[in-house]
Amino acid sequence: MKVLIAGGAGYIGSTIASACSDAGIDPVILDSLLTGRREFAAGHAFYRGDIADGPLIDHIFGEHPDIGAAIHAAALIVVPDSVADPISYYQANVAKSLAFAAHLLRNGCGRLIFSSSAAIYRANADLTVDEDSAIDPQSPYARTKAVCEAMFADIAASRDVHVLSLRYFNPVGADPKMRTGLQLRQPTNVLGKMIQAREQGTPFLITGTDWPTRDGTGMRDYVHVWDLATAHVAALARFDGLPGPVTAINLGSGAGSTVRELVDAFGQVSGRPVEVREAGRRPGDVAGAYTRIGRAERLLGWRPQYDIAEGIEHSLQWSALRDESLRL
Ligand SMILES: NC(=O)c1ccc[n+]([C@@H]2O[C@H](COP(=O)([O-])OP(=O)(O)OC[C@H]3O[C@@H](n4cnc5c(N)ncnc54)[C@H](O)[C@@H]3O)[C@@H](O)[C@H]2O)c1
Repeated sequence: MKVLIAGGAGYIGSTIASACSDAGIDPVILDSLLTGRREFAAGHAFYRGDIADGPLIDHIFGEHPDIGAAIHAAALIVVPDSVADPISYYQANVAKSLAFAAHLLRNGCGRLIFSSSAAIYRANADLTVDEDSAIDPQSPYARTKAVCEAMFADIAASRDVHVLSLRYFNPVGADPKMRTGLQLRQPTNVLGKMIQAREQGTPFLITGTDWPTRDGTGMRDYVHVWDLATAHVAALARFDGLPGPVTAINLGSGAGSTVRELVDAFGQVSGRPVEVREAGRRPGDVAGAYTRIGRAERLLGWRPQYDIAEGIEHSLQWSALRDESLRL
């Protein structure tokens, strides 16, 4: 079987492509290279272009009529940017996703896996969530994900398509075989910023120390990106047995870590304590949450295999290789 991976030259999409390929599923990658890297699609069928480009998608299905499913991991993902420029975010993430869905349907693709986000939830008082927790996105970025999920559910109710929304928590790490990792030199995620601070010899900025968590810093559920990727392989294998035309599954580690705890773990793995400076909250930030992973276990037979220390270790390994791998 072949799988179309939109955003397959990005951080998560490229890892999914490697996991699929290792499992004998051929990825066909569609990516505009807005933030993705051509190097990440090496060895796979690759089309440079936009998910909203109908003729291009018709052409891809013409060349690969055996595509059995699509994974939609193409989006803009920077929360503060979405606060500053919501119009661009709704255009890129919602309007283009609607066009993409129409193009997939026209080409007879009835299986869609959507890269959604834990950011759509309102956490319970104990900062846990599961798939039945309230949907209450706190930033334009997160709202684009919730809107897409609702839009796909409406489409699935009326057409012969099934949609699986995989709601990712906070990905860390890189492909353990170091084929791909975080491509950005100046990443916006917390671990990327920690590595950057270490490389530059500057203090790591903890943004927000007054959240209702055990130490006041943001709670996150760090999940290894390879575990995220293998969940997609499991989802493709079990897709036709999923319960509804629409299913949502959380993908996290099942455990929460605060930013301070991540700082400590990073110090231990890297062998050097992290110098920190404290600052206020960023626009669009939330206290955070961690997930119960029962549904992923039950429906996908999936459990994360890597712990946070391995995620940090793989991130550090990748960051040492990144410039060479990407010919920046
Ligand atoms: N990284 C996270 O923390 C996180 C958490 C939850 C969900 N997600 C979701 O996972 C998906 C992948 O995120 P990522 O971290 O790999 O980001 P990324 O920026 O590395 O990957 C996104 C990819 O999509 C491509 N792209 C963007 N718009 C496109 C378009 N219109 N047409 C074709 N290609 C386009 C980019 O070039 C890039 O390769 C996104 O949908 C994101 O919202 C990410």
